Amino acid sequence: MSSQIDHLLDESRQFPPSDEFAASAVAKPDLYERAAADRDGFWGDQARELLHWHTPFTRVLDWSTPPFAKWFDDGELNVAYNCLDRHVEAGNGDRVALLWEGEPGDERRITYAELTDEVKRVANVLESFGVGAGDRVAIYLPMIPEAVASMLAVARLGAIHSVVFGGFSAESLRSRIDDAGAKVVITADGGYRKGKVSPLKPAVDQALSDDRFGEQQTVEHVLVVKRGENEVDWVEGRDVWWHDVVPAASAEHVAEPFPAENPLFILYTSGTTGKPKGILHTSGGYLTQAAYTHRNVFDLKPESDVYWCTADIGWITGHSYVTYGPLANGATQVLYEGTPDTPHPGRWWEIIQKYGVSIFYTAPTAIRSFMKTGRAIPQKFDLSSIRVLGSVGEPINPEAWMWYREVIGSGSAPIVDTWWQTETGAIMVSPLPGVTATKPGSAQVPLPGISIDVVDESGEEVGNGNGGLLVITEPWPSMLRGIWGDPERYKETYWEKFEKQGYYFAGDGARLDADGDLWLLGRVDDVMNVSGHRLSTAEIESSLVAHEATAEAAVVGASDETTGQAVVAFVIIKESYLAAHDPAGLATQLRSWVGEQIGAIARPRDVYIVGELPKTRSGKIMRRLLRDVAEGREVGDTTTLADTAVMSIISAQVK
Ligand code: WT7
Repeated sequence: MSSQIDHLLDESRQFPPSDEFAASAVAKPDLYERAAADRDGFWGDQARELLHWHTPFTRVLDWSTPPFAKWFDDGELNVAYNCLDRHVEAGNGDRVALLWEGEPGDERRITYAELTDEVKRVANVLESFGVGAGDRVAIYLPMIPEAVASMLAVARLGAIHSVVFGGFSAESLRSRIDDAGAKVVITADGGYRKGKVSPLKPAVDQALSDDRFGEQQTVEHVLVVKRGENEVDWVEGRDVWWHDVVPAASAEHVAEPFPAENPLFILYTSGTTGKPKGILHTSGGYLTQAAYTHRNVFDLKPESDVYWCTADIGWITGHSYVTYGPLANGATQVLYEGTPDTPHPGRWWEIIQKYGVSIFYTAPTAIRSFMKTGRAIPQKFDLSSIRVLGSVGEPINPEAWMWYREVIGSGSAPIVDTWWQTETGAIMVSPLPGVTATKPGSAQVPLPGISIDVVDESGEEVGNGNGGLLVITEPWPSMLRGIWGDPERYKETYWEKFEKQGYYFAGDGARLDADGDLWLLGRVDDVMNVSGHRLSTAEIESSLVAHEATAEAAVVGASDETTGQAVVAFVIIKESYLAAHDPAGLATQLRSWVGEQIGAIARPRDVYIVGELPKTRSGKIMRRLLRDVAEGREVGDTTTLADTAVMSIISAQVK
């Protein structure tokens, strides 16, 4: 990572927008002035312009009990109505909402009128299961239109969804179901991944009935979409096929208004401890900022653009920039089920050509892996429809940025490098295409209406030319409203560090260049970023020590050319285990163990079996030194170790 960063700080190229682009851009420079002149007034205008309110709000922000914010709080709206019915009522029912492409090549075009009907039917089905405002529904689905419809049906009822990424294990699913107390699970038999059906329903069955997890208390129904056609077990009375009940349900359903602060979803994300946090988002403020950012950051022209965000709905990017932002704005978007290289390495570019995608939003890790396979592959396809490119999830190195611009964006499409988090709900820092002169590798400036700073440990501004910690200095509409069931952890994690100043601590290091542009430098806590996905060192360590062979484990994020960071584990094996077992193949076993326990994304790239771990005199593991080993560097300063010889032993064992 450090060589990448050195490189990044030398970067001085700039790409101003063309006059033509600037002239027809959605966002104009005056947006910054309007927001600076009256922040609350600006957000109030956005909320009124972008959304339909059943009951108009009279107050924009209530920040009387920080860090618990209320936005637009006496207003009422229905989130699903905003994403669906109102577009139909405005005469846009025939506009395509979803251009869905299955991995095997099957396709479905779904208009706003059709999606509205489908969501009304699903809402009626969920109501028949007893789901109402405030109830929790877990969604564990592949990237199929039913996933989007399910989220919106839950939202329509004022209920709360908890989408669990389909790559997570039965155990991860169960802990999320329990934490939220979900009443219903929506899943599929399976979905297509890498050319074959990857089953989902068996994981739901296991999550709900495996003895290891104890008796399950809350789930009454499992609604199952048929997608993979794989064999599934069936629990009579609990399980219901989607195709048996949804088409038969009524397509009449009135969208009731709910208060702006009604919870919309919980989304679990890794933190510095072993237990994932249920990040809570609410309705009015979240939808306002999702719609505002989607429109301005991507320069969306809903009548003519074809938008495609490659994120899975199991992540926040899929929530804000597949489901809520684009649909609130009446966009036409591509939804793709599968992996980028199935059945051939040009699959994404083929999809862009086929649908004439004009706005494309993806992650640096994907761009870097395409760079590796070479430009000849994308160059076989016509990508001339692309006019805006977005990047999200981790810092994008200037080399990847330039490749993205030249090879995918024909050397002219502006790139928006968008910094945000599950907790921020929507984009916070990004250039505005048509306004900002972009810089390869920099996320650049806070959006109009957003206040960001870089400070030192004591909360003092570092000023241009210096590095420090990224903070958000004013509340924002789509901010998390808390951690589900744990207000104390919410305060501790985000607000305690800069309590005096009242700043939100994001956990990222950043630097301001001489122009005041932001350069993100990665996490400053024990959180790793692997392919743009957030993983906790503590969570993987606790999974490793749950294995019978493991005495102790330490996990670090080591820099990786393609995935940004990779999980590397150092494990001490129990003497008693070694006495009774052959250690050959143990590293491989431990890798798969983590995959089964948490999910394939958490599987370590390397597991090293070692005799000791580097600890300070107070017993704290010095991950910095392990990172040196994992990255093949000379080991840094070991003077604070309890036993200074330990690092040479570890280095020898790793080789
Ligand atoms: C963390 C949040 C935001 C949706 C995807 C990830 C890193 C995110 C950028 C960017 C540098 C970035 C940060 C952040 N991150 N976007 N454009 N440049 N770093 O959401 O899983 O909540 O992770 O991702 O470290 O804190 P998430």
